[in-house]
Order: sequence, then structure tokens, then C-alpha cells
Amino acid sequence: MKGIILAGGHGTRLHPITLGMSKQLLPVYDKPLIYYPLSVLMLAGITEIQIISAPDDIENFQRLLGDGAHVGLRLSYAVQTEPRGLAEAFIIGADHVGDDSVALVLGDNIFHGPGFSNLLQRKAEDVDGCVLFGYPVSDPERYGVGEVDGNGRLLSIDEKPERPRSNLAITGLYFYDNEVVDIAKNLTPSARGELEITDINRVYLERGKADLVSLGRGFVWLDAGTHDTLTEAGQYVQILEHRQGVRLACIEEIAWRMGLIDRETCLRLGTQLAKSPYGRYVMEVAAAG
Ligand code: DAU
Repeated sequence: MKGIILAGGHGTRLHPITLGMSKQLLPVYDKPLIYYPLSVLMLAGITEIQIISAPDDIENFQRLLGDGAHVGLRLSYAVQTEPRGLAEAFIIGADHVGDDSVALVLGDNIFHGPGFSNLLQRKAEDVDGCVLFGYPVSDPERYGVGEVDGNGRLLSIDEKPERPRSNLAITGLYFYDNEVVDIAKNLTPSARGELEITDINRVYLERGKADLVSLGRGFVWLDAGTHDTLTEAGQYVQILEHRQGVRLACIEEIAWRMGLIDRETCLRLGTQLAKSPYGRYVMEVAAAG
């Protein structure tokens, strides 16, 4: 399975912060926002990942993450000239996807919960159709909303409905089979002028091939797209890291635990950042073996 991180857009809801800098490079406590979605793909076992961002920002992502080889990844970069919708990721990324299945994760989404890595790896195997991840929220009208029957089967999906049929948001993580590229190419823009991910998901739903995984109450899903949610995400990460002494979305640690790099490499990566607590944590992880 290939991976795509969509990290474009104008970040208008975060102005003036994002006038000079991409939203997905802003700090969420101790690391850039993009580390969180990147770590989701890594935990799913995906190593070939394309980062799509706006023309002015792409170089900054390249400076941050390079070709990814230091953490056992193969990263490539592509530009989205204008934010024409999430579904455009599959048109821009068509060559990267090739004949494989693909996971798309939005660059401002943060996931954290027990057993997540196992769940992701299980769901990423032999995807036939699409796999969506639902999460109960208090403000579903801000999201794509899924309606399910008594057995948890998906009945409908609406994008930002005024009157949501449920409180189940469709999160910004999506697994698709290779059909998604053709489906995306045949979409027409919505009333707001975007190629909608929800329209792709509806095609799968009509074909009876949309699987919804409900992330339960003990799980955490945050999107860091507004001043409040960005701050709250940072506070959540800070509290958890202080309390447990472990770091979320530490890509060097994940690379080491997933067997993508050896212990010496992990130690070296930590040493390079040793003046920060983050770097010292990476060194401790490697030293503890
Ligand atoms: O966060 C989950 C939600 O993401 C889903 O529940 C919705 O169904 C889905 O449409 C999307 O809703 P948002 O309102 O969050 O989408 P937004 O336009 O804010 O874009 C999400 C991220 O993707 C944002 O960080 C900017 C980036 N983006 C967006 C567009 C439209 C791009 O990189 N390119 C784009 O063309």
C-alpha cells in the first residue's frame, strides 16, 4: 500500500499564523504537525509516501523530511497549485499510487489510541473497496458524517450537513483500493468548487464496498485546523507525554520499533537533536533497546 499525506491548502482559519508558514509545519507541542499523520502511515506499515503541498510550502517539507531514508522511508513530493479538494490527491498522486492500494491521511489530523497500529495493519491488508474511520464528535456538522445501521454498517455519508443524521464524523484517514484513481478522475466539482472525498466515498458506498471502522470512546482524534483545536492538540500531547514519559508520533522511535532502522541509526538521529528533550528521548529509546 502506498501513502499520501495531503498538506496543502491556505490555512485560512489559522490566519495570520499561516500567512508566512504552512499549517502542517506548525508545532503541536514538541514536533511539527505533519509528524502525527506521518506516524499514522508508518504505524500502518506504509513506507512509500508522497507529501502533497502548496507551491510555496513544498520546499519546507523537503527540508524537514528529505527523502525519508534516515527513518527508513521513501518520501516523494508533489505540488497542488490550488486547494481544489481532497480528492485531487489521487489525480496528483496517480503515478505514485501506480497499481497499488493507497492510504490518504490529512496533514492536520492527529490520531492516538490503544491497538491503533495493529488495527491499521489489519485493515491495510488486501483492501477491497474503501475503509473509513468514524469517530463520535459533539460538532458533526463540521465534518463528513456517516450514518450507520444497528450492525454498524454504513448507510449514508453527508459532507458538512446542516442537520447531521448522526454524531459520527468521518475522520481524515482513508484506505482505498486502486479504483480510487479512476473514480477521482471522473469526479465533478461540488457546489463549493471542490473535488470532494465524500463523493469518492459515496461511489464506494453505492458499490457496497465501503467499510466503516468505528474508533471508540477511548480513542483520540483531533484536527488541528483552528486556533483552539491547534492549542488543544498541543495541550493533549503535552499532558500525555509528561504523564507517561513517552512521546507521541516520534518518527525516529516508530522507525526503530517497526524495524525500519537499526539501533545505531536511531541513536545517531537522537544525537543530532540532543539539545532538545525530543532528541534526548530518541537517544534514550535507542539506548534502552
Ligand atoms: O478532518 C476530517 C474532515 O476533512 C472530513 O470529515 C471531511 O469529510 C473532509 O471534507 C475534510 O473536511 P475539512 O473541512 O477539514 O477539509 P479542509 O478543506 O479543511 O481540508 C482538510 C485539510 O486538507 C486541510 O489541512 C487543508 C488540506 N487541503 C484541503 C483542500 C481542500 C489540501 O491540502 N488541499 C485541498 O485541496
